[in-house]
Amino acid sequence: MTTGKRKILVTSALPYANGPIHLGHLVEYIQTDIWARFQRLRGNETYYVCADDSHGTPIMLKAREENIPPEELIERVGREHRRDFSDFHICFDNYHSTHTEENRYFSEYIFQQLHEGGHIAKRTIIQAFDPLEQMFLPDRFIRGSCPRCGAADQHGDNCEACGATYTPTDLADPVSVISGSTPIEKESEHFFVKLGDFDDMLRQWTSSGGLQSEVKNKLAEWFEAGLQDWDISRDSPYFGFRIPGYEDKYFYVWLDAPIGYIASFRNFCDREGVNFNQYWNSDSTTELYHFVGKDILYFHALFWPAMLYGAGFRRPTAVFVHGFLTVNGQKMSKSRGTYIKARTYLNHLDPDYLRYYFAAKLNARVEDIDLNFDDFTARVNSDLVGKVVNIASRCAGFINKRFDGQLAATLPDPALFEHFVAGSTAIAQALENREFGRAMRQIMAFADQANQYLNEQQPWIVAKESGQDAKLQQICTQGLNLFRILMIWLSPVVPELAARSAAFLSCPLAASGAWQTLQQPLLDQPINEFKRLLDRIEPKDVEAMLEESASQTDSSANTITGQHLADEPLASEISIDDFSKIDLRVATITDAATVDGADRLLRLSLDLGGETRTVFAGIKSVYDPARLIGRHVITVANLAPRKMRFGVSEGMILAASGTDDAGGIFLLSPDPGVEPGMRVR
Ligand code: MSP
Ligand code: ZN
Repeated sequence: MTTGKRKILVTSALPYANGPIHLGHLVEYIQTDIWARFQRLRGNETYYVCADDSHGTPIMLKAREENIPPEELIERVGREHRRDFSDFHICFDNYHSTHTEENRYFSEYIFQQLHEGGHIAKRTIIQAFDPLEQMFLPDRFIRGSCPRCGAADQHGDNCEACGATYTPTDLADPVSVISGSTPIEKESEHFFVKLGDFDDMLRQWTSSGGLQSEVKNKLAEWFEAGLQDWDISRDSPYFGFRIPGYEDKYFYVWLDAPIGYIASFRNFCDREGVNFNQYWNSDSTTELYHFVGKDILYFHALFWPAMLYGAGFRRPTAVFVHGFLTVNGQKMSKSRGTYIKARTYLNHLDPDYLRYYFAAKLNARVEDIDLNFDDFTARVNSDLVGKVVNIASRCAGFINKRFDGQLAATLPDPALFEHFVAGSTAIAQALENREFGRAMRQIMAFADQANQYLNEQQPWIVAKESGQDAKLQQICTQGLNLFRILMIWLSPVVPELAARSAAFLSCPLAASGAWQTLQQPLLDQPINEFKRLLDRIEPKDVEAMLEESASQTDSSANTITGQHLADEPLASEISIDDFSKIDLRVATITDAATVDGADRLLRLSLDLGGETRTVFAGIKSVYDPARLIGRHVITVANLAPRKMRFGVSEGMILAASGTDDAGGIFLLSPDPGVEPGMRVR
């Protein structure tokens, strides 16, 4: 290990901006955050960046279904993601989005460089096409009967009943899950990255160390099978970046997604004045690590280094791959209530519990990890509360009450303290190597030794003996100093517990470079009043969380695949005051027109009884504009104006529909006799 300050850039995979963060995601973000915090604690210059992955068909369709522009969807989901991450104390140096100018710039640049290097091929392919929606269909948006076993309603690429894999064209009776129509085949010209051009480079990069052995094995299989050209373009309609020079071709979301790492860092550097080139130039000596799940290895270990290399950037130092989270031994499942959103967890439990539990279970291999709630409760209560926090609570009272908060001037057992200091090396090694479980076991073994010391010294007995004040103060000072070392080691894992401990010990535990301060004991100085540092997990809180989770029918599960949802669950209850905030008015449609470039929208002019408003409504598929003029509708008159691609929408008109529009859209109209401007209550 080098002694100088390392310069490290770390990333986690960019979560899709069409759904909430769940506990599975958090395996990755917590893991990366622990490692980044550990590097900062060691004094290394460490930046941790991430972003929302905001492009692609599922996001476009989800926005349509909600009848909002995709920009609005990704804005809202981005906000929710940031809040979830921040509440789990994931400490990003920057959190950006792929739908940004920085990302457009680098996507175009990298494409251009690959093109100039001769690494882009162009050819015509045949794909499934939805004639009603006028769009090409990704495999997952086609369903039909399995060509092998005949099971109905199977995915376009594999059968859940018999495990067969095939292409959508093999399906008997294929249907588009978007419109329900039968897909046809259609030709289109696409761009491909010639991955084979990078075969030698990739083999070399793979064997240059830094990759896990399972990852190397997987890559060897892929090299063996031969590297295929990679289709990086998509046809309109698509939500993404247009390929320069083409009207209706877009970069495939997986082209611009990893470039989001660069874009997020660029955005950070511009704001903070950090040297961008030092991290991305081809001759960079800084370190670059990507933490990713096993499902997206191909993108990060083949496409990504090839793109970087082909465009003249540095390649990653390593890609760190983790397995998937199971809950109580099974795949996360909505019906069992084990598909748990980050927010649902936060409604009931302290994030440090989960951070510690994941740390205790993680290692550097590509293994799935299981969250078992009985084990979670037992482990956290026994380790964090029963062992670690217990040391402080056994000593703090005496120091506070008997010695006015003052620590003794010397340690009674310096050898024990030195033994702890010496343990740091192995713990640092384990954390550096992402052997978090091993590190936690080592730390808990030290916590056992600290408790054993107190069991032997029995400060609570010494406290009752006369003339033993100095001894009592020393024993407790020893205990608190051992506790302090434990908390420095644990601070990347449980940052909030560490922050409360730092406040109580009146000494920074998690500051940059604090690892180097742990050999220096706290002596002859005051500490603060001891408050409870961490409560035990109550099984009833875990149960309440599982119940809340089971009661959520997450409509995004259905909307992502475009399936119809007949009975949309009721939104949560509101008060009459909430309702009266909504100012509903009768309006008359005075003009209605189609909008160039928008295939679902009509531009409506509304008369609200003296005031005219422009509103964009996604009703073109069902209403002929000419027949709308003169019609009375109900409008939400106090809705904040929304900027859309085609102009500003100054309100909304009410219509009934299912969760998607396949079942029709029905405008609401008042009985005859109303006047525009009347309030609706
Ligand atoms: N948007 C892509 C990543 C683009 S990176 C340039 C994506 N997004 S995701 O939201 O589906 O997943 C984000 C990360 O979370 C991925 O690394 C994925 O492997 C991880 N996980 C998602 N579900 C998971 C579990 N159940 N368990 C562990 N990790 C999981 O993929
Ligand atoms: Zn089958």
